[in-house]
Amino acid sequence: MWIINPASRKAAYVSKKLYIKTWGCQMNVYDSKKMADILAPLGYQEVETPDDADMMILNTCHIREKATEKVFSDLGRLRPFKEAKAEKGEKALIAVAGCVAQAEGAEITKRAKYVDMVFGPQIYHKLPEMILEATGQKRIVNTEFPVESKFDHLPGEAKPAGPSAFLSVQEGCDKFCTFCVVPYTRGAEFSRPIEQIIEEAKRFADSGTKEITLLGQNVNAFHGEDAKSKTWNLAELIAAVADINGIERIRYTTSHPKDMDDALIDAHGSIEKLMPFLHLPVQSGSDRVLELMNRKHTAEFYIDIIDRLRKARPDIALSSDFIVGFPGETDEDHAQTMELVRKVNYASCYSFKYSPRPGTPGAVMKGVVAEDIKNTRLQELQALLVEQQTAFNKGFEGKTLPVLFDRKGQKDGQLLGKTPWMQSVHAEANARLFGEIVEVEITGAFQNGLSGKIVTTETTSTPSPQKDAA
Ligand code: 5AD
Ligand code: SF4
Repeated sequence: MWIINPASRKAAYVSKKLYIKTWGCQMNVYDSKKMADILAPLGYQEVETPDDADMMILNTCHIREKATEKVFSDLGRLRPFKEAKAEKGEKALIAVAGCVAQAEGAEITKRAKYVDMVFGPQIYHKLPEMILEATGQKRIVNTEFPVESKFDHLPGEAKPAGPSAFLSVQEGCDKFCTFCVVPYTRGAEFSRPIEQIIEEAKRFADSGTKEITLLGQNVNAFHGEDAKSKTWNLAELIAAVADINGIERIRYTTSHPKDMDDALIDAHGSIEKLMPFLHLPVQSGSDRVLELMNRKHTAEFYIDIIDRLRKARPDIALSSDFIVGFPGETDEDHAQTMELVRKVNYASCYSFKYSPRPGTPGAVMKGVVAEDIKNTRLQELQALLVEQQTAFNKGFEGKTLPVLFDRKGQKDGQLLGKTPWMQSVHAEANARLFGEIVEVEITGAFQNGLSGKIVTTETTSTPSPQKDAA
């Protein structure tokens, strides 16, 4: 095991530039942040561009098509930066991390000889060790699934996690949906120990985080153990995070319908801090396609969960992922997807054309759907989803909502925030409100977000001490 002790960290400190480009899911965003945290004690500071960077990491996603080609074209763009460093007699390292690295490690080292490191999502805790080897001119390929967990080796945060933070609690997946590469790239399902998660959540709260999103590829299958070897489910974990002072909002993503147990549905009714928005992917509204996809449930089963969630928390809004054109999907199957969307009435959704992922069962299934049919179905589905999303947002016009300001706006004097229902809101706001939950009156509603003005009790004149007459 390789541990950097704090003293040697200090000794190794030289300021270096670290460029990370992240594709894909929130899990990758979390991993990139952790890589930056791991490298900070070695003197690496994150920069926005690869210009003059000492280390460039592409944290990749393999979930949909052309992933590998995109990585190669980005590697081509990074190469001149490495060469420019070499001309100055300095060595810049290029690394490919994440799921493409895991799936295509050998191909990457063969085709891009200037890449120094290729490593999968379960091994980045060994980055300091890998850097030492790579700077000794060795090329590193590390796509193993280690016995030890990377989570046991992650340092604290180098920078505050921010007002809204991701916290990875579960990784990997044993579901094996026939279209999906995740079980192959992220490996078997694994839940982090309870104390580790709570400790990280408390650190976030201490640094000013107000909203935590518990992350996992299949997060509602969470079954972490506590120090007494008792297994907790996700509902219990959410309740414990809700008890942390300073944490005002909790979310979790991504869930599988089969793992929406009663305790979790009840939690939506009983835990106020659990936000009324749930991403619950269904992929298709046809039982036949759901079976081909190995989703292990029917459309009716899914609708029943939605009904129960709405009973528990009447204002809950829903989102989903859909795939059109899975092998064997007919017009009738597609019509059933449209029907399901009409029944549920979503707040926002992601929809994709099926793309065969090498090595998955779907890639060799019969009944491939023609590209033009996929396009037509996707357009039809997206038109309905856009209509629902816009109507959902319009329903908030004139209302006053609590908004957590977690990003800077495009213009000076503006902040961007999030409602409990995940809508983006922009408003004129003093920078001191960054990181605060503020009441905002919604003045504009659009397909992709809201605009509003802060409801304030502050006045410009000195208030009179006299009470209003009744
Ligand atoms: N083709 C198209 N979409 C896919 N997704 C996963 N694999 C594929 C694929 N092979 C979509 C699913 C999943 C989301 C993260 O990406 O809808 O829920
Ligand atoms: Fe992929 Fe999600 Fe299915 Fe797991 S449950 S195989 S991550 S789509």
